Amino acid sequence: MSKNIKKITITKPDDWHVHLRDNFILNRVINYTGQFYKRAIIMPNLYNPIVDCKKSIAYRDRILKSMKFNCKFQPLMTCYLTESTSIKELERGFYEKIFIAAKLYPIRSTTNSNKGIKKIDNVYFILKRMEEIGMPLLIHGEETDLNIDIYDRESKFIENTLKPLRLKFPKLKIVLEHITTKEAIDYIKENDPFYLSATITPHHLMFNRNDMLIHGIKPYFYCSPILKRKNHQIALRQAIARGDKHFFLGSDTAPHLDHHKINKTGQAGIFNAPSSLLAYITVFEEMNALNQFESFCSKNGPKFYNMPINKEKITFVRKPFKVIKKIQIGNNIIIPFLSGQTLNWSVYI
Ligand code: NCD
Ligand code: ZN
Repeated sequence: MSKNIKKITITKPDDWHVHLRDNFILNRVINYTGQFYKRAIIMPNLYNPIVDCKKSIAYRDRILKSMKFNCKFQPLMTCYLTESTSIKELERGFYEKIFIAAKLYPIRSTTNSNKGIKKIDNVYFILKRMEEIGMPLLIHGEETDLNIDIYDRESKFIENTLKPLRLKFPKLKIVLEHITTKEAIDYIKENDPFYLSATITPHHLMFNRNDMLIHGIKPYFYCSPILKRKNHQIALRQAIARGDKHFFLGSDTAPHLDHHKINKTGQAGIFNAPSSLLAYITVFEEMNALNQFESFCSKNGPKFYNMPINKEKITFVRKPFKVIKKIQIGNNIIIPFLSGQTLNWSVYI
């Protein structure tokens, strides 16, 4: 495919990694995801995390009620794994389709992860059951030992935690979320995608740490895992451009109120829902790989989760799209990814 392409139609995508928060933030952000995606995996790291079926059902109801349009958006809920998660509860949630997966946050790895896992061995008994019932484990793959350099957190996690875990539970279905390194790409591509896959965000595809740290520090690029060196960004871009089935769309859209980001200790997370899909198409075009766009957005994810591919279609046209500058929430604002910038592609309505 070439730059002469003016219009492209694909199966409607799903976003396999989304943070919606709750209450007033949820109300303001949900329609951005609902407008572009048919289904989305909703991350459970609320201030009061979603740790059981009751909380999940109530949260799902709040999500559906907050949608402005009666669109057919489907939130897919996850359980926040703690060291005291009950196997019975997890299993019931999975069998009754309350949970599609469980999310593992190493303790203090990211936003609201203080109830996360201290030592992965402490939850091996849970992972064993998940392996038996085929319940996917979604992992925030970073070591949190403060002796490990922040830029090595992901690669060390693969060596120290993920590889031993996969040896112990080879049939456990795992998604390594928002991968950022060449090490992650190299390790994942050697494995069976039915058991090990990964999501990739638009920001890790578009930028590297130079973009965040040269000519003034850019807090809106600050996220977890942190942006890496350019060679890692290139490895991610090449992986999606060659159409590798291990990788699929997970935007990790993560809204934070501006005064929490612009602070003495600014929070990690990039709110990209208003532009994520158009940012991805931009990267695929830059890589001259628009022919791989649909499988990354709409096919590899459902295949991993053993779900049907969406019937709906979405059409993109080569027409400038200006990303909204800010979102007002009462007296607060949220600044989105690529705020005020213009992208080359729009959704055809
Ligand atoms: C996410 C958030 O804010 O909830 N932040 C982030 O930097 N990605 C959590 C996460 O996915 O790590
Ligand atoms: Zn996330």
